[in-house]
Amino acid sequence: MRVLVTGGAGFIGSSFVRSTVARRPDAQVTVLDALTYAGDLSSLASVSDDVTFVRGDVADADLVDDLVSRADVVVHFAAESHNDNSLVDPSPFVRTNVVGTFTLLEAVRRHGTRLHHVSTDEVYGDLALDDPNRFTETTAYEPSSPYSATKASSDLLVRAWVRSFGVHATISNCSNNYGPFQHVEKFIPRQITELIEGRAPRVYGAGLNVRDWIHVDDHNEAVWTIIERGTPGETYLIGADGERSNLDVVRDLLAIFGRGADEIEFVADRAGHDLRYAIDSTRLRTELGWEPRFTDLAAGLASTVDWYRANEAWWRPAKVSTEERYARTGQ
Ligand code: NAD
Ligand code: DAU
Repeated sequence: MRVLVTGGAGFIGSSFVRSTVARRPDAQVTVLDALTYAGDLSSLASVSDDVTFVRGDVADADLVDDLVSRADVVVHFAAESHNDNSLVDPSPFVRTNVVGTFTLLEAVRRHGTRLHHVSTDEVYGDLALDDPNRFTETTAYEPSSPYSATKASSDLLVRAWVRSFGVHATISNCSNNYGPFQHVEKFIPRQITELIEGRAPRVYGAGLNVRDWIHVDDHNEAVWTIIERGTPGETYLIGADGERSNLDVVRDLLAIFGRGADEIEFVADRAGHDLRYAIDSTRLRTELGWEPRFTDLAAGLASTVDWYRANEAWWRPAKVSTEERYARTGQ
Protein backbone atom coordinates (compact mmCIF):
# COMPACT_ATOMS: atom_id res chain seq x y z
CA MET A 1 0.00 0.00 0.00
CA ARG A 2 1.40 3.43 -1.01
CA VAL A 3 0.66 5.92 1.77
CA LEU A 4 1.05 9.69 1.32
CA VAL A 5 1.31 11.47 4.69
CA THR A 6 0.95 15.26 4.67
CA GLY A 7 2.49 17.03 7.67
CA GLY A 8 4.57 13.94 8.42
CA ALA A 9 7.42 15.95 9.98
CA GLY A 10 5.15 17.39 12.69
CA PHE A 11 4.26 15.94 16.10
CA ILE A 12 1.40 13.57 15.28
CA GLY A 13 2.33 12.97 11.63
CA SER A 14 5.89 11.90 12.47
CA SER A 15 4.59 9.53 15.14
CA PHE A 16 2.19 8.09 12.54
CA VAL A 17 5.07 7.60 10.10
CA ARG A 18 7.38 5.98 12.68
CA SER A 19 4.72 3.54 13.87
CA THR A 20 3.60 2.76 10.31
CA VAL A 21 7.15 1.86 9.28
CA ALA A 22 7.58 -0.25 12.44
CA ARG A 23 4.29 -2.13 12.32
CA ARG A 24 3.18 -2.20 8.68
CA PRO A 25 6.03 -3.43 6.48
CA ASP A 26 3.68 -3.54 3.45
CA ALA A 27 3.30 0.28 3.54
CA GLN A 28 5.46 2.46 1.28
CA VAL A 29 5.43 5.87 2.94
CA THR A 30 5.90 9.25 1.26
CA VAL A 31 5.85 12.38 3.42
CA LEU A 32 4.84 15.79 2.07
CA ASP A 33 5.79 18.55 4.52
CA ALA A 34 6.64 22.24 4.12
CA LEU A 35 8.98 22.16 7.17
CA THR A 36 7.48 25.26 8.74
CA TYR A 37 8.72 26.23 12.24
CA ALA A 38 6.63 23.25 13.47
CA GLY A 39 8.14 20.63 11.16
CA ASP A 40 11.41 18.90 12.01
CA LEU A 41 13.05 16.36 9.74
CA SER A 42 15.01 14.96 12.67
CA SER A 43 11.71 13.56 14.00
CA LEU A 44 11.92 11.14 11.05
CA ALA A 45 15.64 10.34 11.44
CA SER A 46 14.97 6.81 12.75
CA VAL A 47 12.98 5.92 9.59
CA SER A 48 14.81 8.01 6.96
CA ASP A 49 15.84 4.90 4.96
CA ASP A 50 12.23 3.69 4.76
CA VAL A 51 10.46 6.93 3.86
CA THR A 52 10.48 9.19 0.80
CA PHE A 53 10.50 12.80 1.96
CA VAL A 54 9.22 15.64 -0.24
CA ARG A 55 9.53 19.19 1.00
CA GLY A 56 6.57 21.15 -0.32
CA ASP A 57 3.32 22.96 0.31
CA VAL A 58 0.00 21.12 0.56
CA ALA A 59 -1.54 24.09 -1.27
CA ASP A 60 0.76 23.56 -4.29
CA ALA A 61 -1.74 22.02 -6.73
CA ASP A 62 0.76 20.60 -9.27
CA LEU A 63 2.96 18.98 -6.64
CA VAL A 64 -0.03 17.58 -4.74
CA ASP A 65 -1.60 16.21 -7.94
CA ASP A 66 1.62 14.37 -8.82
CA LEU A 67 2.02 12.86 -5.33
CA VAL A 68 -1.65 11.88 -5.04
CA SER A 69 -1.53 10.19 -8.46
CA ARG A 70 1.09 7.83 -7.01
CA ALA A 71 -0.69 7.02 -3.72
CA ASP A 72 -3.34 4.48 -2.66
CA VAL A 73 -4.26 6.40 0.49
CA VAL A 74 -3.60 9.95 1.69
CA VAL A 75 -3.48 10.73 5.42
CA HIS A 76 -3.80 14.48 5.89
CA PHE A 77 -2.12 15.85 9.03
CA ALA A 78 -0.59 19.05 7.56
CA ALA A 79 -1.94 22.13 9.29
CA GLU A 80 -1.09 25.21 11.24
CA SER A 81 -2.00 23.74 14.63
CA HIS A 82 -1.47 26.24 17.44
CA ASN A 83 -4.36 28.38 18.74
CA ASP A 84 -2.13 31.09 20.23
CA ASN A 85 -0.39 31.65 16.88
CA SER A 86 -3.77 31.89 15.13
CA LEU A 87 -4.64 34.80 17.41
CA VAL A 88 -1.49 36.69 16.37
CA ASP A 89 -1.67 35.99 12.61
CA PRO A 90 -4.54 33.90 11.20
CA SER A 91 -3.44 34.11 7.55
CA PRO A 92 -1.27 30.95 7.32
CA PHE A 93 -4.11 29.05 9.01
CA VAL A 94 -6.51 29.97 6.23
CA ARG A 95 -3.98 29.15 3.54
CA THR A 96 -2.77 25.78 4.87
CA ASN A 97 -5.84 24.47 6.65
CA VAL A 98 -8.51 25.63 4.20
CA VAL A 99 -6.78 26.10 0.81
CA GLY A 100 -4.42 23.17 1.50
CA THR A 101 -7.32 20.81 2.24
CA PHE A 102 -9.20 22.08 -0.82
CA THR A 103 -6.12 21.39 -2.97
CA LEU A 104 -5.85 17.86 -1.64
CA LEU A 105 -9.57 17.22 -2.15
CA GLU A 106 -9.37 18.25 -5.79
CA ALA A 107 -6.44 15.87 -6.31
CA VAL A 108 -8.12 12.88 -4.65
CA ARG A 109 -11.27 13.65 -6.64
CA ARG A 110 -9.31 13.52 -9.93
CA HIS A 111 -7.48 10.31 -9.03
CA GLY A 112 -10.15 8.44 -7.01
CA THR A 113 -7.74 8.13 -4.07
CA ARG A 114 -8.83 7.26 -0.52
CA LEU A 115 -8.36 10.18 1.92
CA HIS A 116 -8.31 10.32 5.70
CA HIS A 117 -8.63 13.86 7.07
CA VAL A 118 -7.22 14.40 10.57
CA SER A 119 -9.17 16.98 12.53
CA THR A 120 -9.85 18.22 16.03
CA ASP A 121 -12.55 18.25 18.69
CA GLU A 122 -12.20 22.06 18.78
CA VAL A 123 -14.60 22.32 15.83
CA TYR A 124 -17.41 21.75 18.37
CA GLY A 125 -16.55 24.77 20.53
CA ASP A 126 -16.51 24.19 24.27
CA LEU A 127 -18.60 22.75 27.11
CA ALA A 128 -19.48 24.03 30.56
CA LEU A 129 -17.48 22.37 33.34
CA ASP A 130 -20.61 20.67 34.69
CA ASP A 131 -22.21 19.73 31.35
CA PRO A 132 -23.05 16.01 31.52
CA ASN A 133 -22.83 15.78 27.71
CA ARG A 134 -19.66 15.17 25.72
CA PHE A 135 -18.98 15.78 22.01
CA THR A 136 -20.33 13.14 19.62
CA GLU A 137 -20.35 12.78 15.83
CA THR A 138 -23.64 14.72 15.70
CA THR A 139 -22.64 17.72 17.86
CA ALA A 140 -23.11 21.02 15.98
CA TYR A 141 -20.02 22.87 14.80
CA GLU A 142 -19.25 26.03 16.83
CA PRO A 143 -15.54 26.84 16.54
CA SER A 144 -14.11 29.63 18.71
CA SER A 145 -10.62 30.51 17.45
CA PRO A 146 -9.20 31.24 14.00
CA TYR A 147 -7.43 27.86 14.23
CA SER A 148 -10.58 25.89 15.04
CA ALA A 149 -12.62 27.87 12.48
CA THR A 150 -10.18 26.88 9.73
CA LYS A 151 -10.23 23.23 10.86
CA ALA A 152 -14.05 23.33 10.87
CA SER A 153 -13.94 24.82 7.37
CA SER A 154 -11.67 22.02 6.19
CA ASP A 155 -14.00 19.37 7.66
CA LEU A 156 -16.98 20.95 5.88
CA LEU A 157 -15.07 20.93 2.58
CA VAL A 158 -14.38 17.20 3.04
CA ARG A 159 -18.05 16.52 3.84
CA ALA A 160 -19.16 18.48 0.74
CA TRP A 161 -16.67 16.67 -1.54
CA VAL A 162 -17.97 13.34 -0.22
CA ARG A 163 -21.58 14.23 -0.88
CA SER A 164 -21.20 16.18 -4.15
CA PHE A 165 -18.36 14.28 -5.82
CA GLY A 166 -18.36 10.93 -4.03
CA VAL A 167 -14.73 11.15 -2.85
CA HIS A 168 -13.72 8.28 -0.58
CA ALA A 169 -12.88 10.23 2.56
CA THR A 170 -13.18 9.72 6.29
CA ILE A 171 -12.74 12.36 9.02
CA SER A 172 -11.55 11.97 12.60
CA ASN A 173 -11.89 14.61 15.31
CA CYS A 174 -9.48 13.93 18.15
CA SER A 175 -8.88 15.49 21.55
CA ASN A 176 -5.58 16.90 22.92
CA ASN A 177 -2.55 14.73 22.15
CA TYR A 178 0.58 14.37 24.26
CA GLY A 179 3.77 12.34 23.92
CA PRO A 180 7.32 12.61 22.50
CA PHE A 181 8.31 14.99 19.69
CA GLN A 182 5.62 17.58 20.50
CA HIS A 183 6.65 21.19 19.83
CA VAL A 184 7.62 23.19 22.94
CA GLU A 185 4.93 25.80 22.21
CA LYS A 186 2.23 23.33 23.34
CA PHE A 187 1.06 23.13 26.96
CA ILE A 188 2.65 19.91 28.24
CA PRO A 189 6.08 20.23 26.50
CA ARG A 190 6.24 23.91 27.43
CA GLN A 191 5.74 23.14 31.12
CA ILE A 192 8.12 20.16 31.07
CA THR A 193 10.89 22.21 29.44
CA GLU A 194 10.27 25.16 31.78
CA LEU A 195 10.67 22.75 34.72
CA ILE A 196 13.85 21.28 33.19
CA GLU A 197 15.15 24.86 32.98
CA GLY A 198 14.35 25.33 36.68
CA ARG A 199 11.53 27.81 36.05
CA ALA A 200 7.85 27.67 37.07
CA PRO A 201 5.05 26.38 34.81
CA ARG A 202 2.98 29.10 33.07
CA VAL A 203 -0.76 28.67 33.43
CA TYR A 204 -3.28 30.80 31.52
CA GLY A 205 -6.02 32.48 33.58
CA ALA A 206 -6.96 30.47 36.66
CA GLY A 207 -6.03 27.09 35.12
CA LEU A 208 -9.56 25.69 35.39
CA ASN A 209 -9.86 24.88 31.67
CA VAL A 210 -10.26 21.18 31.00
CA ARG A 211 -8.65 19.24 28.15
CA ASP A 212 -9.28 15.56 27.28
CA TRP A 213 -5.78 14.07 26.93
CA ILE A 214 -4.87 11.14 24.69
CA HIS A 215 -1.46 9.61 23.96
CA VAL A 216 -0.36 10.27 20.38
CA ASP A 217 0.14 6.53 19.72
CA ASP A 218 -3.48 5.84 20.66
CA HIS A 219 -4.60 8.59 18.27
CA ASN A 220 -2.58 7.11 15.41
CA GLU A 221 -3.76 3.54 16.01
CA ALA A 222 -7.30 4.93 15.81
CA VAL A 223 -6.43 6.63 12.49
CA TRP A 224 -5.23 3.28 11.07
CA THR A 225 -8.36 1.58 12.43
CA ILE A 226 -10.53 4.11 10.57
CA ILE A 227 -8.52 3.79 7.35
CA GLU A 228 -8.85 -0.02 7.44
CA ARG A 229 -12.33 -0.51 8.89
CA GLY A 230 -14.11 2.88 8.70
CA THR A 231 -16.94 3.62 6.29
CA PRO A 232 -16.07 6.20 3.60
CA GLY A 233 -18.01 9.40 4.11
CA GLU A 234 -18.22 8.97 7.88
CA THR A 235 -16.80 10.89 10.83
CA TYR A 236 -15.30 9.25 13.95
CA LEU A 237 -14.43 10.93 17.24
CA ILE A 238 -11.21 9.83 18.95
CA GLY A 239 -10.76 10.23 22.70
CA ALA A 240 -9.43 8.27 25.68
CA ASP A 241 -11.52 9.59 28.61
CA GLY A 242 -8.59 11.72 29.76
CA GLU A 243 -10.29 14.87 31.08
CA ARG A 244 -8.07 16.94 33.40
CA SER A 245 -7.92 20.61 34.34
CA ASN A 246 -4.75 22.43 33.35
CA LEU A 247 -3.99 22.88 37.05
CA ASP A 248 -4.23 19.12 37.64
CA VAL A 249 -1.79 18.42 34.79
CA VAL A 250 0.67 21.04 36.03
CA ARG A 251 0.51 19.64 39.58
CA ASP A 252 1.26 16.13 38.25
CA LEU A 253 4.30 17.57 36.44
CA LEU A 254 5.45 19.49 39.53
CA ALA A 255 5.24 16.25 41.55
CA ILE A 256 7.32 14.38 38.92
CA PHE A 257 10.01 17.07 39.26
CA GLY A 258 9.81 17.02 43.08
CA ARG A 259 8.66 20.66 43.14
CA GLY A 260 5.99 22.28 45.34
CA ALA A 261 2.36 22.10 44.16
CA ASP A 262 2.04 25.91 44.27
CA GLU A 263 5.13 26.78 42.23
CA ILE A 264 2.98 28.06 39.37
CA GLU A 265 3.14 31.34 37.46
CA PHE A 266 -0.33 32.48 36.42
CA VAL A 267 -0.10 34.50 33.18
CA ALA A 268 -2.44 36.36 30.80
CA ASP A 269 -5.38 34.27 29.63
CA ARG A 270 -5.89 33.29 25.97
CA ALA A 271 -8.49 35.42 24.13
CA GLY A 272 -11.70 33.42 23.63
CA HIS A 273 -10.19 30.52 25.63
CA ASP A 274 -12.34 27.38 25.29
CA LEU A 275 -13.33 26.14 28.74
CA ARG A 276 -13.68 22.39 28.30
CA TYR A 277 -13.40 19.69 25.66
CA ALA A 278 -14.71 16.15 26.22
CA ILE A 279 -15.03 13.35 23.67
CA ASP A 280 -17.50 10.47 23.59
CA SER A 281 -15.71 7.89 21.42
CA THR A 282 -18.39 5.19 21.73
CA ARG A 283 -18.86 4.93 17.97
CA LEU A 284 -15.18 4.23 17.27
CA ARG A 285 -15.04 1.67 20.09
CA THR A 286 -18.25 -0.22 19.35
CA GLU A 287 -18.36 -0.08 15.52
CA LEU A 288 -14.62 -0.38 14.77
CA GLY A 289 -13.29 -2.08 17.92
CA TRP A 290 -10.62 0.52 18.82
CA GLU A 291 -9.52 0.89 22.46
CA PRO A 292 -6.82 3.19 23.90
CA ARG A 293 -3.76 1.48 25.40
CA PHE A 294 -2.39 4.46 27.40
CA THR A 295 -5.14 4.98 29.96
CA ASP A 296 -2.92 6.07 32.90
CA LEU A 297 -2.24 9.77 32.25
CA ALA A 298 0.15 10.14 35.22
CA ALA A 299 2.31 7.28 33.85
CA GLY A 300 2.10 8.77 30.33
CA LEU A 301 3.25 12.15 31.65
CA ALA A 302 6.16 10.55 33.51
CA SER A 303 7.40 8.78 30.37
CA THR A 304 6.95 11.99 28.36
CA VAL A 305 9.08 13.85 30.94
CA ASP A 306 11.74 11.11 30.58
CA TRP A 307 11.71 11.62 26.80
CA TYR A 308 12.21 15.42 27.05
CA ARG A 309 14.98 14.93 29.62
CA ALA A 310 16.76 12.50 27.27
CA ASN A 311 16.19 14.48 24.06
CA GLU A 312 17.24 18.01 24.87
CA ALA A 313 19.05 18.27 21.51
CA TRP A 314 15.67 17.82 19.77
CA TRP A 315 13.71 20.57 21.61
CA ARG A 316 16.42 23.03 22.61
CA PRO A 317 16.69 24.84 19.19
CA ALA A 318 13.00 25.88 19.30
CA LYS A 319 12.81 26.82 22.97
CA VAL A 320 14.27 30.34 22.96
CA SER A 321 12.29 31.60 19.94
CA THR A 322 9.11 30.07 21.37
CA GLU A 323 9.54 31.84 24.71
CA GLU A 324 10.32 35.11 22.89
CA ARG A 325 6.99 34.78 21.07
CA TYR A 326 5.14 34.14 24.36
CA ALA A 327 6.87 37.10 26.03
CA ARG A 328 5.34 39.40 23.39
CA THR A 329 1.79 38.41 24.47
CA GLY A 330 2.54 38.42 28.21
CA GLN A 331 2.22 34.64 28.44
P1 NAD B 1 2.24 20.22 14.17
O1 NAD B 1 2.12 21.69 14.15
O2 NAD B 1 3.17 19.57 15.15
O3 NAD B 1 2.68 19.71 12.73
C1 NAD B 1 2.14 20.23 11.54
C2 NAD B 1 3.03 19.81 10.38
O4 NAD B 1 2.44 20.31 9.17
C3 NAD B 1 4.45 20.37 10.46
O5 NAD B 1 5.39 19.37 10.15
C4 NAD B 1 4.46 21.47 9.39
O6 NAD B 1 5.74 21.68 8.81
C5 NAD B 1 3.46 20.91 8.39
N1 NAD B 1 2.87 21.96 7.56
C6 NAD B 1 2.36 23.16 7.98
N2 NAD B 1 1.93 23.86 6.91
C7 NAD B 1 2.14 23.09 5.82
C8 NAD B 1 1.89 23.27 4.43
N3 NAD B 1 1.34 24.39 3.95
N4 NAD B 1 2.22 22.27 3.58
C9 NAD B 1 2.78 21.13 4.05
N5 NAD B 1 3.06 20.92 5.35
C10 NAD B 1 2.74 21.89 6.22
O7 NAD B 1 0.76 19.66 14.33
P2 NAD B 1 0.22 18.36 15.09
O8 NAD B 1 -0.03 18.70 16.51
O9 NAD B 1 1.08 17.21 14.74
O10 NAD B 1 -1.21 18.21 14.39
C11 NAD B 1 -1.34 17.44 13.19
C12 NAD B 1 -2.79 17.44 12.77
O11 NAD B 1 -3.60 16.88 13.81
C13 NAD B 1 -3.36 18.83 12.49
O12 NAD B 1 -4.22 18.73 11.37
C14 NAD B 1 -4.15 19.16 13.75
O13 NAD B 1 -5.22 20.02 13.44
C15 NAD B 1 -4.64 17.79 14.14
N6 NAD B 1 -4.91 17.58 15.58
C16 NAD B 1 -3.96 17.90 16.50
C17 NAD B 1 -4.20 17.63 17.86
C18 NAD B 1 -3.18 17.93 18.92
O14 NAD B 1 -3.46 17.77 20.10
N7 NAD B 1 -1.97 18.33 18.57
C19 NAD B 1 -5.43 17.06 18.24
C20 NAD B 1 -6.39 16.78 17.25
C21 NAD B 1 -6.11 17.03 15.92
O1 DAU C 1 -8.26 19.63 21.29
C1 DAU C 1 -7.38 19.37 20.23
C2 DAU C 1 -6.44 20.55 20.06
O2 DAU C 1 -5.52 20.51 21.15
C3 DAU C 1 -5.69 20.52 18.73
O3 DAU C 1 -6.60 20.68 17.68
C4 DAU C 1 -4.63 21.62 18.66
O4 DAU C 1 -3.87 21.48 17.47
C5 DAU C 1 -3.72 21.49 19.86
O5 DAU C 1 -2.78 22.56 19.86
C6 DAU C 1 -4.53 21.50 21.16
O6 DAU C 1 -5.15 22.81 21.34
P1 DAU C 1 -5.17 23.52 22.79
O7 DAU C 1 -5.31 24.96 22.56
O8 DAU C 1 -6.11 22.82 23.70
O9 DAU C 1 -3.67 23.11 23.28
P2 DAU C 1 -2.51 23.94 23.99
O10 DAU C 1 -1.40 22.96 24.23
O11 DAU C 1 -2.17 25.18 23.29
O12 DAU C 1 -3.16 24.35 25.40
C7 DAU C 1 -3.76 23.37 26.24
C8 DAU C 1 -4.39 24.12 27.41
O13 DAU C 1 -3.36 24.70 28.22
C9 DAU C 1 -5.27 25.28 27.01
O14 DAU C 1 -6.34 25.37 27.93
C10 DAU C 1 -4.36 26.50 27.12
C11 DAU C 1 -3.49 26.13 28.30
N1 DAU C 1 -2.11 26.65 28.31
C12 DAU C 1 -1.34 26.52 27.19
C13 DAU C 1 -0.02 26.94 27.19
C14 DAU C 1 0.85 26.81 25.97
C15 DAU C 1 -1.58 27.20 29.49
O15 DAU C 1 -2.27 27.29 30.52
N2 DAU C 1 -0.27 27.59 29.49
C16 DAU C 1 0.52 27.50 28.41
O16 DAU C 1 1.72 27.87 28.48
